[in-house]
Amino acid sequence: MKTLIVYFSQTGFTQKYAEWLAEALGGTTLTMKEASKKDDSFFNDFDAIIFGSWLSMEKIAKADWFTSRIDKWKCKKLAIFGVGASPAEYSGIQGLLDKTLTEEQRKYAKAFYCVGGLSYEKMSLGSKMLMKAFAAMLKGKKNKTEADEAMIKHVASSCDYTDKKYIEPIVAYING
Ligand SMILES: Cc1cc2nc3c(=O)[nH]c(=O)nc-3n(C[C@H](O)[C@H](O)[C@H](O)COP(=O)(O)O)c2cc1C
Repeated sequence: MKTLIVYFSQTGFTQKYAEWLAEALGGTTLTMKEASKKDDSFFNDFDAIIFGSWLSMEKIAKADWFTSRIDKWKCKKLAIFGVGASPAEYSGIQGLLDKTLTEEQRKYAKAFYCVGGLSYEKMSLGSKMLMKAFAAMLKGKKNKTEADEAMIKHVASSCDYTDKKYIEPIVAYING
């Protein structure tokens, strides 16, 4: 199976998952920027296309790069994954995965979540300011769950929670 993994990564966590997926599936990686320069015929060669990007404000950043193209790729295996600082059990994750694909798109594509981390060193100044706003939004949530509290701790400083176990469901889905 010829697999392409297109990724959008600001601080490297999504890139790491894209590379792990390429290794596990014998696939090729491309940045979203590189992939955007390719014409439609380039994608015809692949049996599976995976798109990965980081979570920004409870959405997969640039998900529309993938969702606006997939109706042309219905005959391929299709997956999208988000990489965020949230623990996998965080209450918002399932909801955001459900919103990533329409009901129609869920018939031929699947959304996944991989736990990434935070790198305040590599983040842009704008992102750092947005993270502060994000942390404040979380702190302001009423009836915070244990997972919300865990998330508040995750965003307090740089951290790396990447683990190869998070690609296993994606690999199983593509190979299935
Ligand atoms: C502006 C901003 C908003 C973010 N929003 C979320 C979010 O809603 N949920 C989450 O889990 N992580 C959030 N994060 C954390 C990133 O998704 C996380 O650091 C991710 O691992 C970055 O991946 P990358 O290294 O590929 O850029 C946010 C980070 C930034 C900078």
